[in-house]
Amino acid sequence: MPGNEKTTPLIVDTDGGIDDALALMMLSAHGRPPSLITTSFGNVELDQATDNILDTLAILDLDCPVHKGAAQPLSGERVDAVEIHGEDGLAGAVRPSRSTTALSEKAVAVLCENLSTAAQENAPIDLLMLGPLTNLALAISIEPALIRGIGQLTIMGGTCFGRGNITPAAEFNIFADPEAAAVIFERIPLAVLVPWEPCVDNPVPGARVDAFLNAAKPGATHMFIKALCDQGRAVHQQHHNKDALVLPDPLAAAVLLDGAVVATSRRCPVLVECAGQHTRGATIPVANNKAGTKRPDVDIVETIDPARLEQMFEATIVHMAGQP
Ligand code: RIB
Ligand code: CA
Repeated sequence: MPGNEKTTPLIVDTDGGIDDALALMMLSAHGRPPSLITTSFGNVELDQATDNILDTLAILDLDCPVHKGAAQPLSGERVDAVEIHGEDGLAGAVRPSRSTTALSEKAVAVLCENLSTAAQENAPIDLLMLGPLTNLALAISIEPALIRGIGQLTIMGGTCFGRGNITPAAEFNIFADPEAAAVIFERIPLAVLVPWEPCVDNPVPGARVDAFLNAAKPGATHMFIKALCDQGRAVHQQHHNKDALVLPDPLAAAVLLDGAVVATSRRCPVLVECAGQHTRGATIPVANNKAGTKRPDVDIVETIDPARLEQMFEATIVHMAGQP
């Protein structure tokens, strides 16, 4: 198993969908499990998202504190993505029995406390954001100084070439709370953004997913992973007429674990459209900064090494399910 022994603590903020679960598996398989998880509405409503994460941790046999966060965006109506992830957000996968529950419903306060301490002690914490950015935006609005406590901030969300998924112009995580995303891109320097296009342009072929699953030990974990993969493949078949699995949140995890997954990126500020009849939630890279915006730069991943992502996904499945 390729190890990643980085000791920087990691907080994962997640909305509990099928690829969120796969991303947690990838982190764990590569020796970088989160030290703390905060949950958010998004793919499903907040209670379901939190249950999904607790069940995934039980499958992983991972002991990690989970705190419930935002149930609603900063502004506007809540959206979900149950047509992608299934009514329960995890494709109806059989869940393990568990006795764990969320430690609190105060994810924003927990982010404030942990990141403020990290700032004071000059011991930054890495953040991986896999859903709407509401929790972090609220935390920053309450305690702006916590920004100095953030180490590497990696975000799955947005678009780099204007190809959305929930609307023609916007990707789901940003569309779900554009006002929150605007706070993040206005305030935090050098976030790494993993937009929709490098994800959808590099799906793992269905035959490869089958090969990885066939090389892993049958059992409850195997069935759980297979259910998630089957759902992702069915959605891709429906939308793109191709048997393949798109891995947005695992790609963001892979970028955090191993920067060599990134083939090309662009460093520039990012604007978020918060109005717009057709464009609410669009992310606009300010590649040619003639307007002289003073916003911080963002490292926007544009293309990736698909073979490396595939290797990391294979290692994840075999490590999680075990070898036969
Ligand atoms: O647009 C892709 C993102 O939204 C991912 O985070 C995935 O979980 C989906 O719901
Ligand atoms: Ca997600």
